[in-house]
Amino acid sequence: MTCNIAVFGTGYLGATHAACMAELGHHVIGVDVDASKLAKLESGEVPFYEPGLQEVLQRNIAAGRLRFTSSYQEAASFADIHFLGVGTPQKKGEFAADLTYVDAVIEQLAPLLEKPAVIFGKSTVPVGTAARLAAKARQLAPAGVDVEVAWNPEFLREGFAVQDTLHPDRLVLGIDRDFPGRAEEAARAVYAQLLDEGIPFIVTDLATSELVKTSANAFLATKISFINAMAEVCEAAGADVTVLADAIGHDERIGRKFLNAGVGFGGGCLPKDIRAFMARAGELGADQALTFLREVDDINMRRRARMVELAREACGSLLGARVAVLGAAFKPDSDDVRDSPALNVAGQIQLQGAAVNVYDPKAMDNSRALFPTLGYSTSALDACSGADVVLVLTEWREFKELNPNDLGRVVRQKSLIDGRNCLNPTTWRDAGWTYRGLGRP
Ligand code: UGA
Repeated sequence: MTCNIAVFGTGYLGATHAACMAELGHHVIGVDVDASKLAKLESGEVPFYEPGLQEVLQRNIAAGRLRFTSSYQEAASFADIHFLGVGTPQKKGEFAADLTYVDAVIEQLAPLLEKPAVIFGKSTVPVGTAARLAAKARQLAPAGVDVEVAWNPEFLREGFAVQDTLHPDRLVLGIDRDFPGRAEEAARAVYAQLLDEGIPFIVTDLATSELVKTSANAFLATKISFINAMAEVCEAAGADVTVLADAIGHDERIGRKFLNAGVGFGGGCLPKDIRAFMARAGELGADQALTFLREVDDINMRRRARMVELAREACGSLLGARVAVLGAAFKPDSDDVRDSPALNVAGQIQLQGAAVNVYDPKAMDNSRALFPTLGYSTSALDACSGADVVLVLTEWREFKELNPNDLGRVVRQKSLIDGRNCLNPTTWRDAGWTYRGLGRP
């Protein structure tokens, strides 16, 4: 069955969801308030770097299944299934999530509805938000127009957004048990192709669905901080955290994924999500349950400080030193620099008196916009020219394939700190480099 779908928000989540829903054969309209983003998307250009998304976008625009608009009226007239995919950033100076954008969509859309509608929330929100938005939507919708809010959290990873949307590990749907409607039926129609593939489909209440998302991200953050805590102990004991991770990862109950120690997690999701989760638990009187997330956050931030320390040790003093930073994105295959450990470390080192040269294969423009005072180079070799120390802070494939001899010819000192433990220490040491990893002897 073909559905008429509107997707509100055309960031990582919304743009990917809109394009992928069209790929499933639905008719989709993407809605945003940002005219420059819309203009790019309309011309088939993805406003951020996401492998494979451009092809899906262009194919579906060409097929006439996908278009974009800034008009809520147009979206309300066209669609009866709406997806809400706007951002929920951290509030300035607080842990809590800023729900302004989520609320704004409901406030603008609900009064314009002309026919029965299901609004599926995809944004990551504090538990209780969906029920609140549902009441608001019912209150604002014109008399006689049925509107239902359900929650369908998104688990996509940047860099794998298309794959994760079209072939997710699971689909989760939270429905309003107090106001039963047709949300489940609508979700089954939208995701029919995925359900036919046997992808697990968990239908639950609104609160559980919201918590599934926040707890999944909290678990992932905890796993990363666990291994980074082990890295601290390994550093103190002269042990190797990468071998430790491989060894404990063989236990299926533990698993090797997300056990890569390094400069820690960043991005637009994990850091702000664990903080919003703590804030919400506090409001609910359950703050004790999540005090450990404070520690998870602290361990993570300590990794950045540790990296700065190691750079200082390598240079003797950061004053007047030249530091090459390879990687600025918060992870490879992304141009996203939101709360990126790499850029954060680069910034701290510069503030302490070093000249920092950054190179990233995709995140240069975003980095320059966020940190205009850092030095930027056009290649890894260029960034390393005359460097006293080279820091690898994002594990791009390009960096894993660097030739230690080529790099050795341009640096002032053959000193390398592998902030992602992604290089082979032996190869670098054999080429005359001083190699340091995080949590490795
Ligand atoms: C994360 C979740 O993985 C997604 O499931 C979720 O949908 C998304 O947040 C979201 O809430 O929107 P993402 O932010 O794209 O996805 O990135 P991850 O792949 O989770 O990586 C997060 C950070 O952890 C990166 O900075 C990465 O370098 C770091 N990381 C990851 C480690 O330091 N070690 C690891 O072993 C794995």
